[in-house]
Amino acid sequence: MQSMRIEIVTDEEALATRAADIVCDLVAANPKAVLGLPTGATPVGAYFELKLRSDSGRADFSGVTAFAIDEFSGARRGDAGTNSAFFRQHLRLPLRAIHVPNPAAENADEHIRAYAAAIRRAGGLELCLLGIGANGHIAFNEPGAGRDSRARLVILTQETREQHAPAFSSIARVPARGVTLGIADLLEARALLVLASGAQKAGAVGRAIEGEATDNVPASWLREHGDVTWLLDEAAASALGERARLAAT
Ligand code: GLP
Repeated sequence: MQSMRIEIVTDEEALATRAADIVCDLVAANPKAVLGLPTGATPVGAYFELKLRSDSGRADFSGVTAFAIDEFSGARRGDAGTNSAFFRQHLRLPLRAIHVPNPAAENADEHIRAYAAAIRRAGGLELCLLGIGANGHIAFNEPGAGRDSRARLVILTQETREQHAPAFSSIARVPARGVTLGIADLLEARALLVLASGAQKAGAVGRAIEGEATDNVPASWLREHGDVTWLLDEAAASALGERARLAAT
């Protein structure tokens, strides 16, 4: 556990501020940083905070390159609910570039492997932000994804499709598949920052940090990383045992 940091903040708002602090510190030190970014409700506040700092000149993202860590497969780029639509709406930063996998790629498996190769060619991810699903998924690595899994086409669980139904306007419209960086790809990022907020994440956070490392909880593999920070609000940290809480800052 030495390489794992746990930071617990009061609420969602404090989480957004702290996440933005971490990203801005990194970008100040490395203006050409390459970042991996997730979608989901959790990072929206942090992305908004980054925009405020950029707009007011407190942070400069003009040299930063971002790579989305996953996307649906079987949709058109920009369709409501897709990750490309999400980033257009929520990541309003003047970045050097933002890359999102193509949800319409004909050979999705080949496409996402080439996408992962492009990340490596760009020098790899300096920092990868992650969310966590209530079932312990990270990016679209659903339960069953192994430590050595690589970028690939995946079948989404019903639970994950339900989570995304509102954005697609109905469950029937949520693609059955997605493309994702694999766990081994995510573990190659130089640093990982996992964000979790709300009581609905407490169980998954507890299992990922304190349970056994298992494919059933893909986020549990993150402990194999040498530089991982779990940034949690009180509600998301509520299932952690005393040992983890004592180790937290
Ligand atoms: C999605 C994304 C993940 C994200 C997760 C949690 O399925 N593919 O990258 O971390 O769900 O989302 P939320 O933050 O909305 O709970």
